[in-house]
Amino acid sequence: MAKAAVNFACTECGYSAGRWFGKCPGCNAFGSLVEETPAALKSAAAAKPLLRLVDVNAEEAKRISTGVPELDRVLGGGLVPASLVLVGGEPGVGKSTLLLSALGAISAAGRRALLVTGEESTAQVKLRAARLGDTENVEILAETELDAVCATLERERPDVCVIDSIQTLYAADMSSAPGSVGQVWEAAGRLLRVAKEQNVATILVGHVTKDGAVAGPRVLEHLVDCVLQFEGDRYHAHRVLRATKNRFGSTNELGVFEMTGEGLIGVPDPSELFGKTMPGEVGAAVACALEGTRPILLEIQALVAPTDLAMPRRVGTGVDPKRLAMIVAVLSRHAGVPLGSADVFVNVAGGLRIDEPGADLAIAMAIASAQKGAPVREGIAVFGEIGLTGRLRTAAQSERRLEECAKLGILAAVAPDGTRSRSQIRVSGSGTLRDALRAGLESREENPRKSQ
Ligand SMILES: Nc1ncnc2c1ncn2[C@@H]1O[C@H](COP(=O)(O)OP(=O)(O)OP(=O)(O)O)[C@@H](O)[C@H]1O
Ligand SMILES: [Mg+2]
Repeated sequence: MAKAAVNFACTECGYSAGRWFGKCPGCNAFGSLVEETPAALKSAAAAKPLLRLVDVNAEEAKRISTGVPELDRVLGGGLVPASLVLVGGEPGVGKSTLLLSALGAISAAGRRALLVTGEESTAQVKLRAARLGDTENVEILAETELDAVCATLERERPDVCVIDSIQTLYAADMSSAPGSVGQVWEAAGRLLRVAKEQNVATILVGHVTKDGAVAGPRVLEHLVDCVLQFEGDRYHAHRVLRATKNRFGSTNELGVFEMTGEGLIGVPDPSELFGKTMPGEVGAAVACALEGTRPILLEIQALVAPTDLAMPRRVGTGVDPKRLAMIVAVLSRHAGVPLGSADVFVNVAGGLRIDEPGADLAIAMAIASAQKGAPVREGIAVFGEIGLTGRLRTAAQSERRLEECAKLGILAAVAPDGTRSRSQIRVSGSGTLRDALRAGLESREENPRKSQ
């Protein structure tokens, strides 16, 4: 009998070879080749009947509220039945805490909620549950064997199941260690099948690598319906949950939580918390950034310090380093703010991150304020995109940003020309970065004491 050919395929790029490589010749990823067993049997499956969309039962697609409003918002209005959600985050950020309180609320609403824990014993989960309260009806299974987990799910068919974590599961018929690429792939694939067949909304907890991506094969992210990232450092009380992929809702939607003794409490109005500056403080500006559908006011702080380094530092916490370098260059070249022999540090309040170009102008304003020693005018918010020529471009959805400012009692904004305001907010429109800085910063004549 002929020997079955063994094939190895890369989980990152799909490269396939007859032997194993430590480094994929296709995409140079390390340890990404896994053994593929060729389908031994020819399937004798019969053709299946088709269904028209109009005949699909819409009840089945009704979302399940998780009982945590901030989580629901990030998911796009709740969990979709039979969907697979991946939640990634640094160790200790609060993944287990968040999901246990969600399970508690789901079970309290009369649905069956199951927690499969591979990392903690049932007693340890009980300890956490005591802290959170309202989790009496959550069912729990301490198991790491994939077959046992799948069999239990098929028998019990809970409405929602949390697997904490996907890296601890192992398939007994594979020789590799739990957490290895092949095992994670296998586990996710099988859980996906069970989720769809048994109509179980499944949430997978995934570990993250040093650079913040979910550990394990990249295909995992393609496989699941929704990828959520839980961010924020362990020593900071505020945590941010954002969707990086969502088949059933907007991505970049943001949920803000505060870690307390009673678990994670949602912060429904983060602008109130993060969008305040001290009047007269040099190097601080309030940005009105858009996160998904949600405008949020954020304090941006900057420090400009003289340096003797040949390559001055540009360090940004919560801002994209490339964007920061661009803003510094435009400030020096087009707005008369010399920064060539100074280190520039920028920080976004609350440990939040902004990737949106609409925050450019606020970052520039904070840096210019720090460099000139002139505070930003009191009670104004700043938003707008900066072009490489020093010209400003209007930010998307400016009306919603202005509404958010009005909600918090900010009645003036510096924004690019063409930003229309239907509310009572006074917008100082500016065509160029230089004009915007003039409109936003207090001048020495106005306030000689503060600008020293
Ligand atoms: N009594 C308490 N009061 C306030 N915060 C607490 C309390 N107990 C635990 N925490 C917080 O909960 C965090 C741990 O949460 P959790 O175990 O949910 O994290 P995790 O993301 O699941 O971590 P891992 O990846 O290790 O499983 C701790 O970092 C701590 O900040
Ligand atoms: Mg955990």
